[in-house]
This record gives sequence, structure tokens and C-alpha cells, in this order.
Amino acid sequence: MLRYLTSGESHGKCMLTILEGMPSGVAIDERMVKGELTRRMLGYGRGKRMAIESDKVEILSGLRKGRTIGSPIAMMIRNIDSSMDRLQAVLNPRPGHADLTGALKYNFGDIRNVLERASARDTVSRVAVGAVSKILLAEFGIRIASHVVMIGGVEADTEGLTFGKTLALAERSPVRCADAAASKLMCDEIDKACEAGDTLGGIIEVIINGVPPGLGSYSQWDRRIDGTLARAILSIQAIKGVSFGLGFETAELAGSLVHDEIFYDRKKKCFYRKTNNAGGVEGGMTNGEDIVMRAVMKPIATLRKALSSANIRTKSPVRATVERADVCAVPAAAVIAEGVSAVEIANAMLEKFGGDSLGEMRRNYEGYIKQVRGF
Ligand SMILES: Cc1cc2nc3c(=O)[nH]c(=O)nc-3n(C[C@H](O)[C@H](O)[C@H](O)COP(=O)(O)O)c2cc1C
Repeated sequence: MLRYLTSGESHGKCMLTILEGMPSGVAIDERMVKGELTRRMLGYGRGKRMAIESDKVEILSGLRKGRTIGSPIAMMIRNIDSSMDRLQAVLNPRPGHADLTGALKYNFGDIRNVLERASARDTVSRVAVGAVSKILLAEFGIRIASHVVMIGGVEADTEGLTFGKTLALAERSPVRCADAAASKLMCDEIDKACEAGDTLGGIIEVIINGVPPGLGSYSQWDRRIDGTLARAILSIQAIKGVSFGLGFETAELAGSLVHDEIFYDRKKKCFYRKTNNAGGVEGGMTNGEDIVMRAVMKPIATLRKALSSANIRTKSPVRATVERADVCAVPAAAVIAEGVSAVEIANAMLEKFGGDSLGEMRRNYEGYIKQVRGF
């Protein structure tokens, strides 16, 4: 099974990851991994540093001649600014951050020790691991897209868009929004927040296409795929909620309007549904439809118009420390959510189809697909 650990501070030397459990024989295109890191850095509303910096991944181990050999894969992304030891002490905790509780918990007199690690810079490692997972998933025809459906109260209308169209339109938008008119309004809202020294959050959607039915299981709580996916997405800094399909909307609807009716196509010899209100997951298992998840991101917690706080030495009232900060990082969060979802789906594929090599995994996968088609 796939597992990984990350290490690194925001202004330390580098961000490191070790990924274990990739089967042998998978061709890893380093340009694809680099491309994913670049997608994470883009997005209207991010700090100037993002526009000038470019993350590069160095794959240190686990590959031979560009292919996985079944051993752990170590990846390093150097930080361009590695001045951590020289940076000023931080004494005025920022509301909405790990600052105060982190200092209390680890008994620090300088909050910098907390914020350097709590920073969303760590998500660069998760995107790198996600990219490698996406490469494995592509071998089985599984694709992942994301788009932004709301920023600062402006909502996108993407009703009826196909998977491919949503991805193409989102990729072209400065805020990853597949609705061009809403995209423009979202940029305007970001400008307004920036002028006011404020920040914005929003809602993202992740869509996973080509997933076979039966990943995850109803048989044990910790094997439910909705649980593992939600946990992975909630682990992204500033994400405060995750839903599947109609999600919270189901609270106001009758069951007859929620549940996806089942039909059988005798010609194609397969079961199908006309709707996907469940978002591709029933009973803790993928049901073969697209997995559709939404996540809400709170507004960035570092405000230029700083909020009230209390100095941890003097205990006097102060304004919270202002670190360099994004005004809105919702588009980046969407790319990160793709990455962490890819790891969970790759893990579920490995759990179901096993295999130490890609060939073995493919044989098991094809045998299962034959079984499902012949059911
Ligand atoms: C891609 C991304 C970029 C972020 N950029 C910033 C930032 O520039 N400034 C900031 O204060 N918070 C930023 N955040 C959010 C904080 O990292 C997060 O709110 C903080 O670590 C506290 O964690 P919590 O919100 O999950 O409780 C960002 C989050 C993500 C996902």
C-alpha cells in the first residue's frame, strides 16, 4: 500500500518526501511532476513570490532509467528562500493559524518554529506525491480534474459541462473557474479584498473519472473510501469541510430526489444510473460513476489589515504579525486536493488489485473488470 511522509520548513533548505509502495515498472515523467508543481503555484490572488519562483523536483531514489523499481521514492524540492535561521522571531500570534496553540504545545518562545512547519508550503510535497500517483492511475484510465466553484460569494455556473470541458476551461482561467463570466467577477472580488487588506476563501470541486466500481469497502469503518478521501482533503491547510455529490443540499431534499435510480442496459450488458447525486460513492465504495467532491476553504488567516492579538512575552494587546501572504489561495487548494485524492485512489487501487509490479497489478485489474462486465 502507498504511504508517505513529508519533511521541511517553509524557509528551510528544502521540502522532502519519501513515498513507499509504488509497484515496479511505472515510467515516471519528471516533467509531468514539475508541471503539477507549477499548477499549484498559479492562481490570481497569490503572493508575488509565486509568480517569480518555480518549484523543481529532484527524484533522489526509487527510479532506474526513469522507471520505478519497487523501492521507496525520495523527492526533494529546494526552497529558493532558505533564510529560516536568520529570520526575526515572531511574538504576535495570528488568529486562524497554528501560531498560539503550537507555541503552547511545543513550549516555544518564538512562534516562527511553529509557522515554518505549519505553513501550506508543505503541500508542495503532497502535490509531488500526488503527481506520481496520477501517473500510476493514468495506466488504468483514471483522470482527476478540479475547478473553483466559488470565491468570495461569486458562484460559477458549470451545469452540464463534461469532465474534459471543465478541466480545459478551468486550466485557462486565472482562478481555475470553468465559468468565464464568474472567473472575471472572482478576480474583481480578489482585487477588492486586496485593496482592503483583507482575504478570501471559497469552494473547490474535484472530479475523478474512470474509477472502477468497488474501491474501498463497507465492511470496516476505516476502509470506507469517502472517509479516506475526506480525511486527505481536510488535511490540507485551511480546508474546513468536504462533501460528496449533492452533499449538504441533501438535507433539504426528499429521498426520492436524492438517490440515483439503477437501470440495466441489456444491449451493453451493464448497470447504469441517470444521475450522480451520490458523487460516485455509495456504502463507502466507488460505484463506477465520477467521484465528485467539494471542499470549502476559509479565507487566508494572515491579514495585511492585521487582527487583534496578544504578545506572547509581554501579554500586551498588539496587532497580529503580518507575514508575506496570499489574498486568496483557493485555485492552488484545488490542485492540492487533486494530488491528495490521487494518492488515496492509487492506494485503494493497490489495496484492491495488489501487485508488486505494474504488470501484476494490471492482470488483477483486468480480471476484475472482466468479472464485473460478466456479472
Ligand atoms: C495553497 C495554500 C496557500 C496558503 N497561503 C497562505 C498564506 O499565504 N498566508 C496564510 O496566512 N495562510 C495561508 N494558507 C492557509 C494556512 O496555511 C492555514 O490557514 C493555517 O496553516 C492554519 O491551518 P487551518 O486553517 O487548517 O487551521 C494557505 C493554504 C493553502 C492550502
